[in-house]
Amino acid sequence: MSRVVLAGADEDLILRVKQAADGDVTVLPPGRLPGDPARLFEQLHDGELPDVLVIGPSASPDAVLTLAARLDIQTPGISVVLITEASQQMWQAAMRSGIRDLLPPSANVPEIRDAVDRASQAATGRRRVLRPVTETERYTGRVITIASPKGGVGKTTVSTNLAIGLTAAAPQSTVLVDLDVQFGDCASALGLVPEYTLPDAVRGPASEDTMVLKTFLTQHPSGLYAVCGAESPAAGDTVRGEDVTRLLASLAREFRYVVVDTAPGLSEQTLAALDRATDVVMLSSMDVPGVRGLRKELDVLRELCMIPAGRHVVMNFADPKGGLSVRDVETTIGTGVDVVLPRSSGVPASTNQGVPLLQSGSKRDPMVKELRRLVSRFAATPLMQPGRYRAKHRAAS
Ligand SMILES: Nc1ncnc2c1ncn2[C@@H]1O[C@H](COP(=O)(O)OP(=O)(O)O)[C@@H](O)[C@H]1O
Ligand SMILES: [Mg+2]
Repeated sequence: MSRVVLAGADEDLILRVKQAADGDVTVLPPGRLPGDPARLFEQLHDGELPDVLVIGPSASPDAVLTLAARLDIQTPGISVVLITEASQQMWQAAMRSGIRDLLPPSANVPEIRDAVDRASQAATGRRRVLRPVTETERYTGRVITIASPKGGVGKTTVSTNLAIGLTAAAPQSTVLVDLDVQFGDCASALGLVPEYTLPDAVRGPASEDTMVLKTFLTQHPSGLYAVCGAESPAAGDTVRGEDVTRLLASLAREFRYVVVDTAPGLSEQTLAALDRATDVVMLSSMDVPGVRGLRKELDVLRELCMIPAGRHVVMNFADPKGGLSVRDVETTIGTGVDVVLPRSSGVPASTNQGVPLLQSGSKRDPMVKELRRLVSRFAATPLMQPGRYRAKHRAAS
């Protein structure tokens, strides 16, 4: 049975499509059809991609053509069937955009069933053929790795809040991966009790099929997905750099944002996460040892050509009485500071309760404001391919 998503249809058409597809139809709420596939699929609450997208006559032709053309490139494993009164011109444009079939609004149930079946078979066939290519090439999401030379500087605080903030900005868009393989505590910071953890996500069936991998994720009530850390340091140690590379690549095909929390320093797993990253958030506490450590880590990463162009320097535990200014920090590390997080008594309480500050904190709290500023650096800027980032960086260095 094929999975069908229906958009732009009235009650009468919804009934016919449901009969034609034997009930497995997700009907999108009425409203403007987004031109961006990711935005369309965000509206699917179970996160499962369809085989066939059926679009009815209420969607605007322009939006339909834009969306279909993008789907054709980004997710060729999904076929589009358009039900509309079409002129000769529209027929041509539809075919050029990769729309699989066109039916008139008066189409009856058997006609719709035939079209959906044909489209579904085409989707399945293309998915089978395309799989080897997509493994390496269809890498669309933004991978944001949070790293720091030292522990206790707020990586988990920042990654959990960033992930919650991105989920609030774009529902179902984000997965958080706890790569602090030995002592990961994202689950605790989010109040989650995971059924599966990192080692399960990189072994066995989950490592072979993205659809299966999604069933190994833990869901937070906010709609955020998470790969939580291993139950024991020994279990975490079994996760290799290449496992991380494969996991992040799979997740980036399914999610707009993959937020990666890491252990202090440059472990094999963290280097793999940096290699896959479109963005790095380099974090340090605002004190002399922390800032010196940050400088050294930035130097090493620069030498290895492993700083993605999306680079965000964040200072935590800023304290006006600390005697260190942002200017001092910038001089030491040789680059700008992007966000400064104040020391805040609300943070330890939120860590202990397992409720990130962006979920519970007051909008006027200075820490909440700065965390939102960090979120908006990602939520407000368009996606770019990691390849392009890397190429630019190499050219510049
Ligand atoms: N800005 C802040 N103000 C006060 N406490 C903070 C702040 N940032 C983090 N913390 C606290 O510091 C501790 C370490 O933070 P955490 O995010 O676990 O660091 P890391 O993941 O880098 O080891 C936690 O108890 C957290 O609540
Ligand atoms: Mg941590």
